[in-house]
Amino acid sequence: MPDPSLLIRDARLDDLDAIFEIEQRSFTDPYPRGLLKAFFYLPGVYIVAVSEGKVIGYAVGIVRYESLGHVVSIAVDESMRRKGVGERLMKETIERLCSKGTKRVRIEVRQSNIPAIVLYTKLGFTVEGKIKRYYADGESALLMYFNVK
Ligand SMILES: CC(C)(COP(=O)(O)OP(=O)(O)OC[C@H]1O[C@@H](n2cnc3c(N)ncnc32)[C@H](O)[C@@H]1OP(=O)(O)O)[C@@H](O)C(=O)NCCC(=O)NCCS
Repeated sequence: MPDPSLLIRDARLDDLDAIFEIEQRSFTDPYPRGLLKAFFYLPGVYIVAVSEGKVIGYAVGIVRYESLGHVVSIAVDESMRRKGVGERLMKETIERLCSKGTKRVRIEVRQSNIPAIVLYTKLGFTVEGKIKRYYADGESALLMYFNVK
């Protein structure tokens, strides 16, 4: 069921601990805290999902160059998944990137990551390529793109 108290807002530096916790719980190869902090200083979008005052998810999209946006991370705390939070975060990231002039949005995803692939496909992303052995453990990534209409 959708969460009526769900709020999406700009991430703040004081959200970093919560973001890093979600990152560590969500990925086998989490980004270091310093990199999650560095994203605050890049052009793009850094948002969090907040429920009952608690950060339960986040997304980061960077502007690679004028017309290309790149979603570099998105995650929802495990206990809060399948409630529409990831979809809200991704839609908001795309919208905000578009308002900065993005015409295409890129994302890489582990080829075994069915929840993420289904979500991106639902939102209109298509697979345009595969990057072999993209991840440290040797798994390949699907390269998916969303084209703004
Ligand atoms: C991918 C992720 C962000 C999705 O977040 P979420 O809040 O659970 O997703 P939503 O509830 O918004 O789901 C939206 C749609 O995505 C698809 N989806 C999400 N989880 C799914 C699952 N486990 N199996 C199949 N489809 C799934 C469905 O189409 C769903 O729509 P529906 O509920 O109407 O069927 C979340 O699973 C996550 O944080 N995973 C770990 C981190 C990660 O892998 N990030 C992506 C890196 S590329």
